[in-house]
Amino acid sequence: MNPSANSIQINRDTMLPDVLRHFPAARQVFDRYGLRGCGGPYGPAESIGYFASAHGVDAERLLVELNQAIANPANAEQMAPAHATEVLADSIYRRFFKAGVVVILTAGAAWGALLLLRIASNQAFTSVSIHDINAHGHAQIFGWVGLFVMGFAYQAFPRMRHTNLWRPDLANLTFYLMVFGVFARAIGEPLFERPMFRELAAIAGLAEITAIGLFIAILLRTFHLSGKPYQRHDAYILAALSFFFVQAVYDLGLLWATTADQSKAELLRIISTYQAPLRDLQIHGFAMLMILGVGVRMFPPLFGLAAPGRKLVRNSLIVILAGVVGEAAFFVIMRRSGDHRWAIPMYISMLLLAGASIALTLRWGLFARPTERDRSSKFVRTAVAWLHTSMLMLVLAPVYMRVILPGMAELSISGHESATIGFSHAYYGAARHAITVGFISLMILGMAAKVVPTLNGIDPRRLSSLWLPFALVNIGCAMRVVFQIGTDFRDGAFAFAGVSGLLEVTGIAIWGVHLWRIMNQGLLAEKTAEVRPNRITADDKIGQIVEWFPSTLPLLLSKGFTPLANPVLRKTMARVVSVRAAASHQNLDVEQLLSELNMAAYGDAHGRPPARPNVSLPVLNHG
Ligand code: HEM
Repeated sequence: MNPSANSIQINRDTMLPDVLRHFPAARQVFDRYGLRGCGGPYGPAESIGYFASAHGVDAERLLVELNQAIANPANAEQMAPAHATEVLADSIYRRFFKAGVVVILTAGAAWGALLLLRIASNQAFTSVSIHDINAHGHAQIFGWVGLFVMGFAYQAFPRMRHTNLWRPDLANLTFYLMVFGVFARAIGEPLFERPMFRELAAIAGLAEITAIGLFIAILLRTFHLSGKPYQRHDAYILAALSFFFVQAVYDLGLLWATTADQSKAELLRIISTYQAPLRDLQIHGFAMLMILGVGVRMFPPLFGLAAPGRKLVRNSLIVILAGVVGEAAFFVIMRRSGDHRWAIPMYISMLLLAGASIALTLRWGLFARPTERDRSSKFVRTAVAWLHTSMLMLVLAPVYMRVILPGMAELSISGHESATIGFSHAYYGAARHAITVGFISLMILGMAAKVVPTLNGIDPRRLSSLWLPFALVNIGCAMRVVFQIGTDFRDGAFAFAGVSGLLEVTGIAIWGVHLWRIMNQGLLAEKTAEVRPNRITADDKIGQIVEWFPSTLPLLLSKGFTPLANPVLRKTMARVVSVRAAASHQNLDVEQLLSELNMAAYGDAHGRPPARPNVSLPVLNHG
């Protein structure tokens, strides 16, 4: 059989939008393996082979099933699930991602940058209130990392198991609870001394605990209903989810204790005993384990990184778990007992944590040549380098604090204090920034830059490479790490550390606006696809027609409707002018204009969808 001009080759390299445009019946096959609302009406701009590996399905099997569906479209359409169009579960990630961007640009990084400027101008980390710092830390963990993790999990985890999200309405409730929690806490904690603000912060904590509990229940139910067995990367995800819940309860307890009416000495005792373990649970337990679990499953297909062996994946998890629990528990025991010998098992835990996380992530082969040009790849690879930096800083902390600092002839005022007490806040904060911004945030930036265009049907390869935000965040992070440590030696380093926050926030803002616009474009495309009619009529407005069918724009321009070239006029004036009015204004025959418009929109003068293309089934080759 000769393939006609309309027939397309279906193989691993065929793009999903090409298949779905020509063979609507193929949708139910893709939906079965987790496509659903992903990528808008014609699916994401990715190849069948890529879809197969990202969604964990054998490419040969997928091609055979596509072949069958196309050969028997009637059967296939009968079997099509109800969610071929956009439903809440498919778009819920958008509100989580957008809220995450709002948080980081307000109560999160932007607030952190202001605090840093105050620290720099006073040349002392102790010059800002601990409650202000903790409000920032909370917004970042719950509102930046938490909201992104939740949005991503609701979108991706059901698809990885080829199933639907259980109870999207409850998932939606978790969104409102989390957003309320994050903002109410951001206001309540710094202002806790005023009447009712402490209570507001506590209610915010309860809302977050409820949201996280529900989030975990929704995911577990979804996993269970999929009927698929758990895999090794799932163990990371389950561990991360447990830490997410535990840290939320711990965090509320600490908030209540630190905002109680008490002496400064008592506040210091509580913070110096319980705050560092909370950060361990949040950063190593929740955020890092979640990223590692998702990475083990998705980075090889998404970024062409090597897949770590099964044993390494299993053993690393066991060691990391022991490391996180050990570093948190032995620290509390050491502080409470006052016996410094507990520092030995605590340090061993840190060594385990660092060793296992570095060993696992090294296996991704970060320096190997990427298999395809991808703007997110640089974010992911650099993020892992920051993880290694932060882990090395963690294990070298005793050397720095016990050997280097006391051995230096010249120290700044704060450096002297650090050497006297044997603990450098500057060094510890720098190591934490390397992991929170360098590792966790770069991962979020990179993954979102990959999945958001894909989910909205836009090919990421045609978008900006995001070098500017990448450079700004990395330069800012490097400046912060280097100059924050530098403050132990020279007071002048405070100024450079202070500026670093502005670079980071600017980079994140550029990235956030870029992503936001893509999400809005996708939303518009879906709404447009939902409402557009089967036929253009004389009463339809010309601005609306161009939005429904961009292919009509050249025709209308050639007929003299030149104001349509201006997007603002398309959205305003042209929204009230009907085809009938426009035709009479230009002295055109309205029937003739309508048939040309329908031809441009549908390939048919009467507005019916185009006839099925001449399909030559033997073209389904597996090459
Ligand atoms: C991107 C720009 C950011 C800036 C300018 C910034 C700034 C700051 C500053 C000035 C402090 C207090 C000083 C210190 O402890 O070093 C701090 C603490 C903290 N930051 Fe950030 N931060 C940023 C991003 C993040 C991110 C992305 C996270 C989490 C993912 C985060 C989590 C925290 C936490 C948890 C603390 C409290 C640490 C403690 O327990 O003392 N920050 N940040």
